[in-house]
Amino acid sequence: MPIISFANAKGGAGKTTAALLLATEIASLGKTVTIFDADPQKWISKWSELTGKPDNITVVSSVFPATISGQIHDAEATSDYIIVDLEGKENLMVANAISVSDLVVIPIQGSSMDARGGAKILRLISKLETIVRKDIPHCVVLTRTNAAVTTRAMKAVQDSLKTNGVDVLFTPIVERAAYRDLFEFGGGLADQDPALVSNIEKARENALRYTAEILERTVDLPKKHSWFQTFRKAS
Ligand SMILES: Nc1ncnc2c1ncn2[C@@H]1O[C@H](COP(=O)(O)OP(=O)(O)OP(=O)(O)O)[C@@H](O)[C@H]1O
Ligand SMILES: [Mg+2]
Repeated sequence: MPIISFANAKGGAGKTTAALLLATEIASLGKTVTIFDADPQKWISKWSELTGKPDNITVVSSVFPATISGQIHDAEATSDYIIVDLEGKENLMVANAISVSDLVVIPIQGSSMDARGGAKILRLISKLETIVRKDIPHCVVLTRTNAAVTTRAMKAVQDSLKTNGVDVLFTPIVERAAYRDLFEFGGGLADQDPALVSNIEKARENALRYTAEILERTVDLPKKHSWFQTFRKAS
């Protein structure tokens, strides 16, 4: 089942928010999801302790660089989707998770600093592809965009990604209070009270479009790569 990791070497790019939105939207389609919380800030683990966590989402909080690949493999038997929220760094945990991922999503805010953090991950993916001898599909999602205007910095980031042939989702994740509220009040967007959360319909529509684009990219993923089997035999 698809393993989708969220990575950007720059902190605060929107990885955790994008990971939780994807998990809750996939769960609302009735699929089982396991989230590996490899972010030291443990926002998703904290979210899972609030009321409203769907029963079909399992959050694994205890993850280690040396065991993450095996933990992900074990979860495959019980989950339709596996989502990994990584730290905003380039380290062994990030490299090990990316190596076993079917899709790496790189959230980038429209700033050159975020884009540099994203470029680091793109270079790391390229190195890991040589080591594991397979392609590691990846894409960029622009995050915290302004619903009304495209800033100059955002446009520059988009143009530079396009020039470098990077797959960028058509749907950016817009800056919305509703996305922050999930971490405060628990549950998914569908559980939020429209009377209390501003623009919840627009937030939901944006999250659904983004989720659909990610799911589209997981449809034709090759069956489990032989490298993974080799890893399991060796471990
Ligand atoms: N689309 C969004 N709308 C509103 N707020 C957002 C959005 N995306 C991220 N944020 C806010 O920006 C901050 C950083 O986001 P988040 O924690 O998702 O980033 P991160 O890449 O996981 O950070 P870290 O590298 O520290 O793990 C948080 O306060 C979060 O609530
Ligand atoms: Mg995070």
